[in-house]
Amino acid sequence: MAELLNELSDVVLTIKSKIEDFLRDYPALFKAASKVYHTFNGSFRTLSKGTPEAIHKAFSIIKNENQGDIGDYYEFGLFRGYAFLKAYEYTQQLNINDIHFYGFDSFKGLPETQGIDVADGRFFEGQFACSKQDVEKNLSEHGMDMSKVVLVEGYYEDSLTKELHSQHSFRPASVVLLDCDLYSSTVEALAWVDQYLQDGTILLLDDYFSFGDGDDLGQPKALQEFIDSNDRYSIEHLWRFSHNGNAFRLRVA
Ligand SMILES: C[S@@+](CC[C@H](N)C(=O)[O-])C[C@H]1O[C@@H](n2cnc3c(N)ncnc32)[C@H](O)[C@@H]1O
Repeated sequence: MAELLNELSDVVLTIKSKIEDFLRDYPALFKAASKVYHTFNGSFRTLSKGTPEAIHKAFSIIKNENQGDIGDYYEFGLFRGYAFLKAYEYTQQLNINDIHFYGFDSFKGLPETQGIDVADGRFFEGQFACSKQDVEKNLSEHGMDMSKVVLVEGYYEDSLTKELHSQHSFRPASVVLLDCDLYSSTVEALAWVDQYLQDGTILLLDDYFSFGDGDDLGQPKALQEFIDSNDRYSIEHLWRFSHNGNAFRLRVA
């Protein structure tokens, strides 16, 4: 039964992305359709089908290479928390126990888009809103050990502060999922998580191709600027995932 429901949900996601592609030329309609869809479809699933598998693959690689402590998981952009939960489940399966899960979200959806993020209107203020309370409920009801979880609430420009670094025992990052759609959000997330990145950290950018194949918008621009800002950093491309995702390995000289 669960498998049938999953398959049905996959069909719905495929139809949804076809309708989205069509509506992209009509921003007002796109926005209205997206609101209706998320109001009536409250299902607890990820928006990007291949993302859980990418998280699994990333942890498998890290686990194979490390005997001891691998560091923590950081996710920027949770929506209803599905991918975040999967990160926990996969680490359990892989017998990775000494790990904490840090999630960063406004829990009010996307901020108002500005500058290059306005693009064709595919992202808009309030999109993907889900309250912190509902995310916590989703996670705990599905068995996540909440003692390993820290959810940081707020728009990144307000929440990703210097002070935050001393408020929790953040450790080096094994896997970082950047699923926050926008150029500006990705810039803010990378700047804050910078001090936890290490040689070998796997960066999963779920929205790498969300603005197309160019590198002058969205996550490609944010990542390139971030790498250029530090002489010691370089990236190795790993694989593509989902509709728009791209996985990289950070190398620190
Ligand atoms: C596409 S959804 C995340 C999907 C989720 N990872 C999943 O797999 O279901 C994008 C999320 O990023 C968050 N977000 C984007 N930019 C943000 C910002 N500047 N500050 C806080 N949250 C932000 C939104 O609130 C939203 O929950």
